[in-house]
Amino acid sequence: MKILITGGAGFIGSHTARALVERGDEVRILDALTQPVHEPGAEPPIADTAELIRGDVRSPDDWQRSLRGIDAVIHLGAYQDYLTDFSKFFEVNAAGTALCYETIVAHDLPVRRVVVASSQAVYGEGAVRCAKHGVVTPGPRSMDALAKADWDVRCPVCGADVESVPTPEEFANPRNSYGISKIAAEQATLALGETYGIESVALRYSIVHGPGQSVRNAYSGLLRSAALRMRERKAPVAFEDGKQLRDYVAIDDAVAATLLALDHPGAPGRAYNVGGGRAWTVLEVIDHLKEIAGVDVDPEISNAFRVGDVRHVVSDISRLQGLGWEPRANLDDVWHRYWAWLDEIAPPAQTVDDAYARMEREGVLRRAGS
Ligand SMILES: NC(=O)c1ccc[n+]([C@@H]2O[C@H](COP(=O)([O-])OP(=O)(O)OC[C@H]3O[C@@H](n4cnc5c(N)ncnc54)[C@H](O)[C@@H]3O)[C@@H](O)[C@H]2O)c1
Repeated sequence: MKILITGGAGFIGSHTARALVERGDEVRILDALTQPVHEPGAEPPIADTAELIRGDVRSPDDWQRSLRGIDAVIHLGAYQDYLTDFSKFFEVNAAGTALCYETIVAHDLPVRRVVVASSQAVYGEGAVRCAKHGVVTPGPRSMDALAKADWDVRCPVCGADVESVPTPEEFANPRNSYGISKIAAEQATLALGETYGIESVALRYSIVHGPGQSVRNAYSGLLRSAALRMRERKAPVAFEDGKQLRDYVAIDDAVAATLLALDHPGAPGRAYNVGGGRAWTVLEVIDHLKEIAGVDVDPEISNAFRVGDVRHVVSDISRLQGLGWEPRANLDDVWHRYWAWLDEIAPPAQTVDDAYARMEREGVLRRAGS
């Protein structure tokens, strides 16, 4: 098969491209090599034999030349930092996805299947269980509550304390521009795919971990920020109180899910969670990273919060398990590989502190009590 991967020079895309080339598929990549993911002039991590078209998913011409002779598309190219340029998320992520279908339909192209990256961000606060009201889906935490370091979500019906439960695909309630643009992309994918007879699948990745993930984005993922601070023998920073629950999936499992979505005859027409199958607190992850790094430094509980961030979100992966997929990788191994990769690329010191400073300047990182 000849497969187009948009964003194929990025983290998930480059691993996916390598896996496809290894199994004998032909790969073409459409990627704008955007900063800060790519440094100007740096060699992009393109799989051997893959063809690179440098172009933009917002450009009809770039889609048209990229889709020529293509059997299937894996659409990963996206804008992701949670900064305040709200409209850009819709231009790149939602309109870019619609343009893929527009080009296929306008030129009657024989593309058999399209797999589109959605995100766990479509959930907003995930599902929780209230002892009295069962499984409920709370709205966002109020800015007033966050400013008072009142971190926990409560039952939207009675206000009681709740416990987080895995969130299934039926639910979506995004609360930031990234998540809203991703649910729009996902709905365009499934609706246009059905209307125009193009097999279509959306994948709601949880937080994907592995070597190759961007170390330069402003919005600071835990693995990157904790590991980079530990490399400088500084305390890793936990936002809020560090007890928020997250769901991490290894890059190897994310790639396997993506290939399954591309190949499985029963996959089209639906969205699938791609998660790790268990919940981690931020402090637990930091503990594991301390062991791996051999750095005995207590985390800094920052009491800071990211605007639009959620308290707990863990994906229910049973739908994808129903197609035969399992999260098989051991995350400790993945974190070891990530740590070794950081040694290889030797990212500049200060990257994380600069990212925190930028987020504070733009008002997306705030401190409780200030
Ligand atoms: N990594 C995760 O944890 C995660 C979680 C949920 C969803 N996702 C989604 O998975 C996809 C891949 O994520 P990733 O982590 O590999 O991201 P990444 O930033 O490493 O790669 C994205 C790639 O897209 C390219 N790109 C950005 N804007 C573009 C544009 N306008 N036109 C063409 N190319 C463009 C970038 O140059 C980059 O190479 C994205 O759609 C992302 O939203 C990722």
